[in-house]
Amino acid sequence: MTPASPEAPDLDALVTRLDGWLEKALERQAPLEFRDVRKGVQALSARYVERRGERGAISNALDGPARRAAFATYYAALHLLEAFLATRQLCAWEGVERIFDLGAGTGAAGFGVALSFPRPPGVQAFDRSGWALAEARHAARDLGIAVRTRKQDLSRGLPRLGPNDAVVAGWFLNELDAAARDRAVAQLAVAAGSGARILILEPLAGAAAPWWTEVAAALGLRADAEVRERIALPGFLRDMDRAAGLDHSELRARVMGQLA
Ligand SMILES: C[S@@+](CC[C@H](N)C(=O)[O-])C[C@H]1O[C@@H](n2cnc3c(N)ncnc32)[C@H](O)[C@@H]1O
Repeated sequence: MTPASPEAPDLDALVTRLDGWLEKALERQAPLEFRDVRKGVQALSARYVERRGERGAISNALDGPARRAAFATYYAALHLLEAFLATRQLCAWEGVERIFDLGAGTGAAGFGVALSFPRPPGVQAFDRSGWALAEARHAARDLGIAVRTRKQDLSRGLPRLGPNDAVVAGWFLNELDAAARDRAVAQLAVAAGSGARILILEPLAGAAAPWWTEVAAALGLRADAEVRERIALPGFLRDMDRAAGLDHSELRARVMGQLA
């Protein structure tokens, strides 16, 4: 229907939109305040670095309000921007009518892909966490994106995908055990064969997705694509980076998909 680039919204417009969403997302975390969210960011960041490559490094850590708040705001915004940049830079997709977001969490990756289109396609968000999907519905409203959510354990199988669908798996495949990931990849290969577009995102650090090359071979896709871009971050991300002692002045992600 509409190509992701070159008419994609510019970054300034996107960042303004994200500022509005983040303000509301932070209000939803009340009575937690910025310093509580900062503790959640630091706890998730430490856990993620320590347990890089292990299943559930982030999502299993969502068992406290501060960490959930960090996931729904700071990490969601970073993932949304990285998915937006990946799609805008690397995917010249046309004819996409629906975006399926697997392991959607609070919707970040699917919304980032959707927002890279001049007219964002609707997002179908799948996750096993009802809490995350509720937050995704709020975020979709704040960002002006149509979303349908479905609580589902994707280790049992993926939704059926068609030729006008794009499917994004953002920081999700690492959450599955090897057998479930193999099943998911086999289903993605069938979907790609019938014309669906695929985008897989994971951290750039090599150890984070040891299965990456094998999955690329199974899907017949390049294993060496990445996003590395310095952008003017939303104020909340800049402030949180400074407060938490982190640095996202360059956004980075490992990317796999039907790239231009
Ligand atoms: C690291 S988070 C990424 C979330 C989101 N894609 C993003 O970019 O921020 C991984 C997500 O996968 C979900 N997940 C893990 N295993 C799952 C499963 N078997 N079925 C459905 N969702 C699952 C978790 O609940 C979590 O929301």
